[in-house]
Amino acid sequence: SAQLNTAAKAAGKLYFGTAVDNGDLSDSTYKSILGNGVDFGQVTAANSMKWDATEPSRGSFTFTNGDVIANLAKSNGQLLRGHNCVWYNQLPSWVSSGGFSASTLQSVITTHCSTVVGHYKGQVYSWDVVNEPFNDDGTWRTDVFYNTLNTSYVATALNAAKSADSSTKLYINDYNLEYTGSKATAMESLVSSLKSAGTPIDGIGLQGHFIVGQVSTSLQSVLNTFVGLGVEVAITELDIRTTVPASTATLAQQSTDYQNVIAACKAVSKCVGVTVWDFTDKYSWVPNTFSGQGAACPWDASYNKKPAYQGILNGF
Ligand code: XIL
Repeated sequence: SAQLNTAAKAAGKLYFGTAVDNGDLSDSTYKSILGNGVDFGQVTAANSMKWDATEPSRGSFTFTNGDVIANLAKSNGQLLRGHNCVWYNQLPSWVSSGGFSASTLQSVITTHCSTVVGHYKGQVYSWDVVNEPFNDDGTWRTDVFYNTLNTSYVATALNAAKSADSSTKLYINDYNLEYTGSKATAMESLVSSLKSAGTPIDGIGLQGHFIVGQVSTSLQSVLNTFVGLGVEVAITELDIRTTVPASTATLAQQSTDYQNVIAACKAVSKCVGVTVWDFTDKYSWVPNTFSGQGAACPWDASYNKKPAYQGILNGF
C-alpha cells in the first residue's frame, strides 16, 4: 500500500516530512517509523535549531542537538528544513530584553543568522529565516526586532542567511496565513516589497495549525496568490487538533481535513511539500499549548495509523 512520502513524490512534490524533537529519538518505534524510507522524505528540528538552543548567550553557539537532527536526516536520506533564525519566541533574554541600540541589534541578527545558516551550509533545503512576524490582524508583531529596527530586520536576516549559504531557499513562515484576509495580505505585501527591493526571498511557509472541521476553504487561493509573487510555498507545520478524546466521527472529519489540505498543495505546482508538526500524538506539541486539545497527528499515541493517514494519501 502507498506511503506518505512516496505519494507526495508521485504527485510531483519534493517531500512529505515531519518535525522531530531530539528527546523523541530515544523511542525506537518513533525512530524506525521516521526512518522507514517511505513515509518521510524531510525533517524539521522541532526545537534544536532555534535561537535559545543555538546561541543561548551572545556569541556562544551550540549545535550539538541541531547536528543530531541534521545527521539523522542525512543518514536517512531526508531533506532538512532549517527552523528558524529570527523569532520572538524561544528567544534568549539577552536578546529579548537586551536593550540594544538599532545598530547593535542589527549586528546581533546578522551574526546569529549567518553563523547558524553557515553551520549547516549545503545541508538545508530551505530555512525559515523569519518566523511569525505578523499579528493575526496583519499588523507587525511588536517584538524586540520590530520595536528596535522596524521592518528592516527582515531584510537584515535574509541578507545574512543568503551570504552564509547562497543555495538554501530562504522562507518567511507564519500561521493563519491559510485564509484570505489581513494576515495573508500583509505577507503578500511584505514579500512583494522585498522582491522589489532585490532582497533575497524564495518562499513563504504556511504553518497549517488547524482545528478539525475548520480547515480553510481558501487555502488553494492563498497559495496561488503567494506563488504569483514569484516564490515557492510549503505547508510547514501541519496538524489538525480537536477536543480530546476524539470520537470516531471526529477522526473521520480529520481525515477529510488532512485530505483537503494536501489536495490544495497538490493543486499548486510551486507548493513544494508538506511537513506535519510531528507525526504521532505521543509527541505532539498541541496538548501542551492548547488545553484540552490534541489528537492532531496522523498516527495515534500508540503508533496506530489514524484515518488521517489515508486522508493524506487520498489528498495526493
Ligand atoms: C513548538 C515546539 O513543537 C514545542 O516543542 C515547543 O515547546 C514550542 O514550539 N510554531 C512554530 C514552532 O513555528 O516552532 C512551534 O514549535 C509550534 C508553533
